[in-house]
Amino acid sequence: MEFSELVRRRASVKSFDPDKTILDAELKELFDEVVLSPSSFNLQHWTFIAVKDRAMKKKLKEAAFGQSQIADCAVAVLVCGKLDAFKDAPEIYKNTPQEIQNLVLPKIHNFYAGNPQLQRDEAIRSASLAAMTLMYGATDRGWATCPMIGFDPSAVSRLLSLTSNLIPVMFVAIGHQKTPPRPRSYRHPVEQVVRLNSLTGPPLAGEANG
Ligand SMILES: Cc1cc2nc3c(=O)[nH]c(=O)nc-3n(C[C@H](O)[C@H](O)[C@H](O)COP(=O)(O)O)c2cc1C
Repeated sequence: MEFSELVRRRASVKSFDPDKTILDAELKELFDEVVLSPSSFNLQHWTFIAVKDRAMKKKLKEAAFGQSQIADCAVAVLVCGKLDAFKDAPEIYKNTPQEIQNLVLPKIHNFYAGNPQLQRDEAIRSASLAAMTLMYGATDRGWATCPMIGFDPSAVSRLLSLTSNLIPVMFVAIGHQKTPPRPRSYRHPVEQVVRLNSLTGPPLAGEANG
């Protein structure tokens, strides 16, 4: 699918066909692409829990304030942010030349260690970028998706046995759309949300210029 068509096709779907299932092999294909998402220092601050089990999806629906997408989708993917991803740097950089490791590893450690706010910001940033790749990848394969933060994070963490280094960033529900697509919801005009060069600069008018 052309990228601009893909962007226009993706929409948050609220109603899934509960009888549609997804094969592990298709999920594997999807996640082979998702892990190509960018992350600072390539630390890949993410972990995914792909919930296909019907009984667990029902429990997650309760934790998601009754939102039916969670129970009816083929797979509810909890995209988690990894707070201590910086500790993986030695493994991630193990095949780079020693002089690069000597430079980068202390830099990464000093950047993150003792800075829980940054660890959290980074976990949310990287996981969110991965979630976007997941939504586009699924849309490209004909699935419908819905990103979701309407859930109780403590209840979800408990149900899915998350360890304390992982925070639930969002669910991405993936399934087959049951009802026809709704019209695209309102977007602020580009002229309103883009400024050239600084916030006090002119809006992006779109005329050809240098
Ligand atoms: C981080 C995030 C959390 C969201 N949480 C929910 C949710 O809990 N339930 C829901 O129905 N939609 C949720 N949405 C979908 C938004 O309502 C939707 O993206 C927005 O209205 C724009 O519509 P569109 O995605 O169809 O373009 C969420 C979207 C994002 C990005």
